Amino acid sequence: MAKKIIVMPGDGIGPEVTREAIKVLKAAGKKSGESFDIIELLAGGISLDAYGIPIREDVIDNCRKADAVFLGAVGGPKWDNLPSERRPEIALFRIRKELDLHLNLRPVKVYDTLIEASALKANVVRGADILVVRELTGGLYFGQPKFIESAGRDERAVDTMEYRTSEIERIAIKAFQFALNRRKHVTSIDKANVLNTSQLWRKTVSRIGRQYQDVGLEHMLVDNAAMQLLRNPGQFDVLLTENLFGDILSDEAAVLTGSIGMLPSASLGAGVGLYEPIHGSAPGIAEKNSANPIGSILSIALMFRFSFNMEGVARLVEHAVENVLNRGFRTADIFMGRPEEKKIGTREMGDVVVETLLESGPSAAS
Ligand code: IPM
Ligand code: MG
Repeated sequence: MAKKIIVMPGDGIGPEVTREAIKVLKAAGKKSGESFDIIELLAGGISLDAYGIPIREDVIDNCRKADAVFLGAVGGPKWDNLPSERRPEIALFRIRKELDLHLNLRPVKVYDTLIEASALKANVVRGADILVVRELTGGLYFGQPKFIESAGRDERAVDTMEYRTSEIERIAIKAFQFALNRRKHVTSIDKANVLNTSQLWRKTVSRIGRQYQDVGLEHMLVDNAAMQLLRNPGQFDVLLTENLFGDILSDEAAVLTGSIGMLPSASLGAGVGLYEPIHGSAPGIAEKNSANPIGSILSIALMFRFSFNMEGVARLVEHAVENVLNRGFRTADIFMGRPEEKKIGTREMGDVVVETLLESGPSAAS
């Protein structure tokens, strides 16, 4: 039976990178004999323009019933001055919360061929391979109360950072399980010298860690982690952290890879999974055929891995991307101007990945 995929291209460069991801999804489907029923729906600024709300309830319902959900990017200057409950980002928060997507995976892999594209020195970033495990439905993003009070000129704004043991336990267990299949090390990031939520985080992660004797556990304060990521990223294997710290550190970690356009993500819970590049809507380069679609394309690989349990196909997509990079194809963000590099647009990058994928070895359907 065809798998039902909800696709929400969103705003800015969202539609362009989504188009390339869907091309790759279809090609990978062809390789593996899988067919897809792709349904495009509105979320973010485009939904605000059409319906006056960031996401409609029926869109969320459709996501809930799908086999997987893909999202491009939401937001842009056009909607920046709306009150917080009507911002495009609300679409994302609603989907995350309603589908209980508490586990956000952001693999950060440095490709040898892109080492010079990083703002950091080659010997610092070479070989870095980090799995950021970000908690996605708790912390400051969702804690209550949350408001802005206008009492004359001296307005008062409140956000609440809140975590429960159960929320920390479930994500810590996942982080240790991923570590078992990697280099068996978890670095848990917090601010336990200041925050109560971090003290609960540290205590809970330590307790879960005792059940995973084969996995090394280290606790690191977030300010130190921000420095260590740039100083010696090779020390990190699984980086486990709460919502806001994970948001910040994953953008920082993107610098290792050469461009934020490279990073994919998967957001998982008990049901359907959501796949999206970690970058934003980049309105400045929208509709210029210049955005890097690799983060989106690699998100399709994650969809095969986590939603369809088709590891072989996930690897085919990842190998196709690596092959294309090794052959020197570059979008503007990762182009260094070397003679062996070929600067291409968003669409051409999608095309060359699709060609490479279709030409690659026999399909591995599982
Ligand atoms: C991300 C993004 C979102 C977040 C924004 C768009 C609200 O930065 O997924 O990292 O902060 O979670
Ligand atoms: Mg972010």
